[in-house]
Amino acid sequence: MAASTRAFVLRQTRLRPVPGLEEIRLHLADEVLPLWHAVQLETDDLDAALPYWAFAWAGGLAIGRYLRDHPEVVAGRRVFDVASGSGLCAIAALHAGASEATGADIDAFAAVAIAANGRANGVRVSVVRRDVLGDDPPDADVILAGDCWYDAGLAERVLPWLRRARDRGIEVLVGDPGRRYLPSEALAELATYDVRTTTELEDQDRKQGRVFGLRPR
Ligand SMILES: C[S@@+](CC[C@H](N)C(=O)[O-])C[C@H]1O[C@@H](n2cnc3c(N)ncnc32)[C@H](O)[C@@H]1O
Repeated sequence: MAASTRAFVLRQTRLRPVPGLEEIRLHLADEVLPLWHAVQLETDDLDAALPYWAFAWAGGLAIGRYLRDHPEVVAGRRVFDVASGSGLCAIAALHAGASEATGADIDAFAAVAIAANGRANGVRVSVVRRDVLGDDPPDADVILAGDCWYDAGLAERVLPWLRRARDRGIEVLVGDPGRRYLPSEALAELATYDVRTTTELEDQDRKQGRVFGLRPR
């Protein structure tokens, strides 16, 4: 990854504790639109993706809290964090004792942020920068899917992929605050957390972040 992308991520964010998960520090932004404009300028692309990677999303916050309460879910296991964004779920899994963690995201800035955030927390997160949803399920014991159901196209592809993974014996945890495309009928709720987010992203700065497993079909 170009050093300039890393410099951009570090310049545009501030390393700070994650609300409710203060043991984790992430490179986070305060405002989404100015950062998005900066990304558009940096990439010379008006259609550049929103900088999801510069925020800790409600779904990921819920997974992080769940792993702190239930470290046995990931302890000693290989974890794959799909739609990783900042890498929050992968880092929470490593803090909970995962033997290794990979963060996968399609966004080049996310790939840089995941690695930088891992380093800032003294852990190593492997990074996969591509759309893994067309691949076979990864070689992992647990998949974490934090806040994946905000977009119809992504939602349509992620559930079959997670089901294929579960059919191969991979445990799946989903974290979500009740987004529009969440397939509630396919999910079994495990826990709910009151998570602190930001009105830059949400209608309220507190959300109910839920953690789910996949229901048997
Ligand atoms: C709302 S953010 C959630 C980030 C993180 N999991 C959290 O909860 O804080 C969704 C992320 O999914 C990524 N994404 C979208 N489509 C993807 C795909 N097909 N494969 C991997 N990542 C994807 C986006 O780039 C974005 O970083």
